Amino acid sequence: MSRILVVDDDASLRRIVEYNLAEEGHAVATAGSGEEALSALEKARFDLVVTDIKMPGMDGMDLLRKVKESAPETQVIVITAFGTIEMAVEAMKAGAFEYITKPFNRDELKLTVRKALRFQTLESENVRLKREVTRKFGFENIVGDSSQMQAVFRLVEKVADSDASVLITGESGTGKELVARAIHYRSSRAQRPFLALNCAAIPRELLESELFGHKKGSFTGAIRDKKGKFEEAQGGTLFLDEIGELPIDLQAKILRALQEREVTPVGGNDVLKVDARILAATNRDLEEAIEEGRFREDLYYRLAVVPIHMPSLRERPDDVPLLVAHFLKELSGKKPVTVDRDAMEALRRYPWKGNVRELENTIERLLILRESDTIRRDDLPEKICSPSTAPEGPEAGFTFTFPPEGFGLEEAERALILEALRRSGWNQSRAAQFLRVPRHILLYRMEKFDIPRRPPEEGTG
Ligand SMILES: Nc1ncnc2c1ncn2[C@@H]1O[C@H](COP(=O)(O)OP(=O)(O)OP(=O)(O)O)[C@@H](O)[C@H]1O
Ligand SMILES: [Mg+2]
Repeated sequence: MSRILVVDDDASLRRIVEYNLAEEGHAVATAGSGEEALSALEKARFDLVVTDIKMPGMDGMDLLRKVKESAPETQVIVITAFGTIEMAVEAMKAGAFEYITKPFNRDELKLTVRKALRFQTLESENVRLKREVTRKFGFENIVGDSSQMQAVFRLVEKVADSDASVLITGESGTGKELVARAIHYRSSRAQRPFLALNCAAIPRELLESELFGHKKGSFTGAIRDKKGKFEEAQGGTLFLDEIGELPIDLQAKILRALQEREVTPVGGNDVLKVDARILAATNRDLEEAIEEGRFREDLYYRLAVVPIHMPSLRERPDDVPLLVAHFLKELSGKKPVTVDRDAMEALRRYPWKGNVRELENTIERLLILRESDTIRRDDLPEKICSPSTAPEGPEAGFTFTFPPEGFGLEEAERALILEALRRSGWNQSRAAQFLRVPRHILLYRMEKFDIPRRPPEEGTG
């Protein structure tokens, strides 16, 4: 049942409309003037207003404008006299859903009202969904109380409303995509599309057309024109995931798209203006890729106007209990499930290589396999509760015990470098930051101590 307000200074016409719409099962209220209608609108919410245009005092046009101002979700149908088509056009421009000319028959009236109400339902559903999505990707869903995550939140907040490109780095499963979405949904582009493209998941031949679109017939299988992601994300945000996997020739084309703000579809000559904000993510060490000639330095600086680094879960063990509580709440049904202290401690100490994603999967599995509403240490997978992995955890900080016979400074340095590399997932830029030395110094020392650039095979899987 919808709520409809019928406005007409002509009492008999008002009654006819009222009668017909009530017959359709709607709750119908009436008003004899624009002023009366306004006060009814102030008191209650209506899905639809059906109003005559010509009325003494406040006319239908004024009423229409007031409705669109104060309750844009309320649809308006105007009734015009025969031969006043200009008025009707004017009303449509001001936001009326449709107009009906007098004299009209009941079927025409009912049909138009049905259409307007269907549209109204879709519109308010749309508004509701958008609100929901906005809420979902606010910060409520990104859990983290550690200083590292707080720094990420502050950065997201600061950068969201600009159009600056953001490069989000971090190990797999640290929440890079989550942060990209948070940036989009906190920006002024929130109502426009957020599109993600995984550069690693699409073969080279298709990637270019995915990005820039193609013209019909430009290659076998191009049976019609296709829009690229740059174009589809118009006004919104384009998230280029796994940017480190982008083939070098496409890097040049992306750079051009960013610099000139225009793209050329595959097989086309015309250039299209594009307005999409670019966010990119990678779990690779792009600086290393640049050194090895696999990534363009100029593109790197274009993308990393603002770099955001997602800390690994090992670096912020205090976030583990929060995340555990978050996933328990999200994944368990109505009955609350808890994790006892011993089990929590084991979870906290475990060096999550797959980061938050691995933790999430672990909790999901525990919930399926659990035998009671309390998860104990014994319920945890072997690799998590076995104490042998514990010392590897982030807790294994450096407390030096000086052996009586002394120790080699160089050995200690080598051990520190190895530990920094291990903690950073062998990402040299991160390891260097961790050790507070420039990256080239780290590389120099690694060479000196004969430390390989990539992790030795054993103990990495
Ligand atoms: N801080 C967090 N709070 C809550 N959930 C998180 C958090 N970080 C990550 N997650 C969850 O972990 C999973 C992985 O996150 P996401 O896909 O954003 O990671 P990613 O860094 O993009 O990983 P990859 O490099 O493998 O693509 C998702 O289910 C996400 O919802
Ligand atoms: Mg991702």
